[in-house]
Amino acid sequence: MATGRQGRPKATILPGERMRMDLSITIAGVKFPSCFMNASGALCMTREELLALGRSRSGAIVTKSMTVEPRDGNPEPRYYGFPGGSINSMGLPNLGYRAYAELIPELKQFGKPVIASIAGLCEDDFLTMARVINQARPDLIEVNLSCPNIPGKPQIAYDAADAERLLKRVRPLITVPMGVKLPPYFDPAHHAVMAEVIGRGHVDYLNLINSVGNGLVIDPTRDRPVIKPKGGFGGLGGALIKPVALANVRAFWKLLGGRVPIIGTGGVVQGLDAYEHVLCGASAVQVGTVLVEEGVGVFERLERELAAELNARGPRSLEATRGKLQEL
Ligand code: SIN
Repeated sequence: MATGRQGRPKATILPGERMRMDLSITIAGVKFPSCFMNASGALCMTREELLALGRSRSGAIVTKSMTVEPRDGNPEPRYYGFPGGSINSMGLPNLGYRAYAELIPELKQFGKPVIASIAGLCEDDFLTMARVINQARPDLIEVNLSCPNIPGKPQIAYDAADAERLLKRVRPLITVPMGVKLPPYFDPAHHAVMAEVIGRGHVDYLNLINSVGNGLVIDPTRDRPVIKPKGGFGGLGGALIKPVALANVRAFWKLLGGRVPIIGTGGVVQGLDAYEHVLCGASAVQVGTVLVEEGVGVFERLERELAAELNARGPRSLEATRGKLQEL
């Protein structure tokens, strides 16, 4: 096998490579035609954006995290991309759950899973939305416990007791597979506590991680932050958060014994990044920053690059790669 920089296997991208590598995956009994999909928040708020995801090679259509009432979100500027990543404080702009409930049947016609993401502003909001969205029959419902951008609303999953109480109330209302999107944790003690909550919560899959909350990016030519809301504080995404995302995927994969499928989100810019997520234990990966930068054509590039990485190693299947990170 040829080796590239740092002795890594060198991935050669051949025309038609994607066709020779099966990148489909299954999570909680739901089959995804590709392991790549959009992260909630990236180009998935309006009907047009969701339809474009349906027509693209995205392995699923993930909705913007919805709230009970439609929201304009935080004041602009609220998103900024820079070399190495992005910062956002969108503030959950979305059409409101009733609109997404109506859209779900149309989205399902694309023949790929629809994931409805719900993000209440209080505990009861989750229950209100879960009842109605569940009736619209998305393929999966994702409970977002980790939005860092609502002033005065702490990220729910940073309080294990709050998260557990909420999951206990919402779980019986959801009959499709239910996932939970968590924020990044930075200490093994927190991984352990939350893994226990997830284990007790009958959670069908995890999405790890949401943006790294409350970063600050400064424009030094103007002595001010690059985004307006919350004094410039916002969620970091893109390449710079990959090590944090990988660590969280790995930690939860090990703590949960590989029994809860994981969607790895954070720092996936190239096929190799996806490969690393899978090595850590991810079944699928989501893209946010790079999707905003490149548009829906990004999925085809990522498929080609990941197929090349897998082919360079054997070929090795996704299944044979999952969780197989070697330890020194
Ligand atoms: C936002 O709309 O502020 C981002 C959503 C999230 O991070 O969950």
